[in-house]
Amino acid sequence: MDRPTLRQDPAQAWDPKVYATNARFVADLAGAVVDLLAPQPGERILDLGCGDGALTKKIAEAGAEVLGVDASENLVRATQDLGLSAQVVNGHHLEFSQEFDAVFSNAALHWMQDPEAVIAGVRRALKSGGRFVAEFGGAGNVAKLVAAINEELTQRGQPGLKGHPWYFPTPDAYRALLEGHGFRVEQIGLIDRPTKLPGDIGGWLDTFADSFLRVLEPGDRAAARDGIVERLRDRICDEDGVWWADYVRLRFKAFLEY
Ligand code: BEZ
Repeated sequence: MDRPTLRQDPAQAWDPKVYATNARFVADLAGAVVDLLAPQPGERILDLGCGDGALTKKIAEAGAEVLGVDASENLVRATQDLGLSAQVVNGHHLEFSQEFDAVFSNAALHWMQDPEAVIAGVRRALKSGGRFVAEFGGAGNVAKLVAAINEELTQRGQPGLKGHPWYFPTPDAYRALLEGHGFRVEQIGLIDRPTKLPGDIGGWLDTFADSFLRVLEPGDRAAARDGIVERLRDRICDEDGVWWADYVRLRFKAFLEY
């Protein structure tokens, strides 16, 4: 069956090689949320925001029939290259109808700025009694990084947070949204998880935070990026030269009541 596809949004045009270098840890640290999903053989599962398919593969290896969807054509192709089913789909416009036992999502929901639309689509996609299990950035996530970006851009005469692309809710706010769409929330909470980066924070900024710098003239962006790195050096780089992102996860498991 044909599925809705999305014209490529430049903000979502991930390069799988850059992603693999700077964001491999995203899937490596997702053991707890995959355990919370507990995929069963024969279940049909939607992986919402599947990235390069690393977790889609894990879910498939558990014996589930899994479909990955992502807004990035490049990442969908990377997922397909692993031999998995994947489609380019905008998470705000899910058009599946009562066909999944579970919807899973890791490190993706914070990129979707209209949570009502996302949750409504997840609800439509689930069979009665199905579960929605996810982890993403919660309130306070990457606060030090956002503060440094804001300072640098403000000093350059720009509205620092104009390009802020993320949604980081509190557990109470997200619980209310889920309940408003007919979910029973079994568990939800914030987890502080300072995360060791594979390189310096510059690689993280290049991979994830490009939208902030687009308010600047192209010729000014590299200097601003380096300025942000320097602002963060004393704040999140330890004495051994290891950089830590101040991640705060929001993890939950909820069931569709009917
Ligand atoms: C996160 O996983 O929390 C995250 C990743 C990239 C940008 C912002 C947040």
